[in-house]
Amino acid sequence: MSFKKRIIVTGGAGFIGSHVVRRLVLKYPEYLIINVDKLTYAGNLENLRDIDSANNYRFEKSDICDQDAITTIFEKYDVNGVIHLAAESHVDRSITEPLEFIQTNIVGTANLLNCALTFWKKDFKGTRFYHVSTDEVYGSLGDEGFFLESTPYDPKSPYSASKASSDHLVRAFGHTYELPTVISNCSNNYGPNQFPEKLIPLFISNIVEKKALPVYGKGENVRDWLYVEDHAEAIDLIYHKGKDQETYNIGGENEWSNINLIKLLCADMDEKLNRSNGESENLISYVKDRAGHDFRYAIDCSKIKNDLGWSPKTTFKAGLRKTIDWYLTNDIWIQNIKTGSYQEYYKAQYEKR
Ligand code: NAD
Ligand code: DAU
Repeated sequence: MSFKKRIIVTGGAGFIGSHVVRRLVLKYPEYLIINVDKLTYAGNLENLRDIDSANNYRFEKSDICDQDAITTIFEKYDVNGVIHLAAESHVDRSITEPLEFIQTNIVGTANLLNCALTFWKKDFKGTRFYHVSTDEVYGSLGDEGFFLESTPYDPKSPYSASKASSDHLVRAFGHTYELPTVISNCSNNYGPNQFPEKLIPLFISNIVEKKALPVYGKGENVRDWLYVEDHAEAIDLIYHKGKDQETYNIGGENEWSNINLIKLLCADMDEKLNRSNGESENLISYVKDRAGHDFRYAIDCSKIKNDLGWSPKTTFKAGLRKTIDWYLTNDIWIQNIKTGSYQEYYKAQYEKR
């Protein structure tokens, strides 16, 4: 069968990438979806177990920084689209290991852009390079205000600086070579398959095991939370309907201080686990703050609402409950991460193919 579009999704074995891959594979049987992922600690092919034998899905274990490997993938599948999510994504790790973030997020994005440009040879008909980015590039807000697409960049962590740099490279390739690019900057995602280093899955796992819940500083920092499937829907829409060289902010219109979110999570978990009211809250432990901790992120997403008709659909109450249910039902997913056996899935499923 010849496929109408051949789209690379980088980072498809990660949290958001796996939701994007599944959505595209199931919704567009006429597309070939090629998941390009290096399988770092954050890459988990168990996230895609249900679709990994679909005939419009392929997996390529590759590093986005590797020019030969990426060129070969473009040629092998005659690729005409890229949705780029691969990144080092955890702010705390960027504080201890900044160079890995520079390498993957900046050098890797530059390599991917250059491979697309070289392969498409300035014939951009039917092509698109979509870069998935973060609201953290805009810096940190005080109590008031929202990030707009026009907000000047002011990244403050090695992670956000590396993402800001990659955004600039994407825009520069769009401007200089007229590569058809589009960028989105999204707020904090939550939902199934998020690696248990991030706030919500880490705290769910610790509550189950009755371990301490490490709240950074006073827990007053504010984040705008979006259910991951709503983000995947926005990515699908922007890939198909977004305008070339444009940027779209995506957010949940759902601001929570960390401590209020954690208290809500504790109450929901007590109910689910039949524990007495307040038992999980007793696990809260205030710890040293994250270095350079951004105070508040909040997205104004009127552009994507007005231009493309997208808005967040999942209420936080419903999304948090779905997330808790998923982690409790799929305890094996967390256990496989804790034992490291999730990294065997590739060997078992792919090395023999
Ligand atoms: P994740 O850490 O869960 O997944 C990242 C994936 O990229 C993993 O599968 C990993 O193996 C892969 N990867 C890392 N380095 C690679 C390399 N050099 N070559 C190929 N693959 C590589 O990340 P996530 O939370 O799903 O985030 C995905 C993207 O969305 C990132 O670009 C991130 O900046 C952006 N983003 C995330 C959020 C969020 O709340 N998680 C919000 C806004 C934007
Ligand atoms: O805003 C989008 C960004 O959201 C994405 O670009 C990043 O990839 C993603 O990791 C996320 O970054 P945050 O730093 O906001 O997410 P994290 O889950 O690490 O932390 C959320 C908040 O909770 C933050 O204020 C720090 C705090 N926190 C986090 C952890 C892991 C704690 O208080 N304790 C913790 O143990």
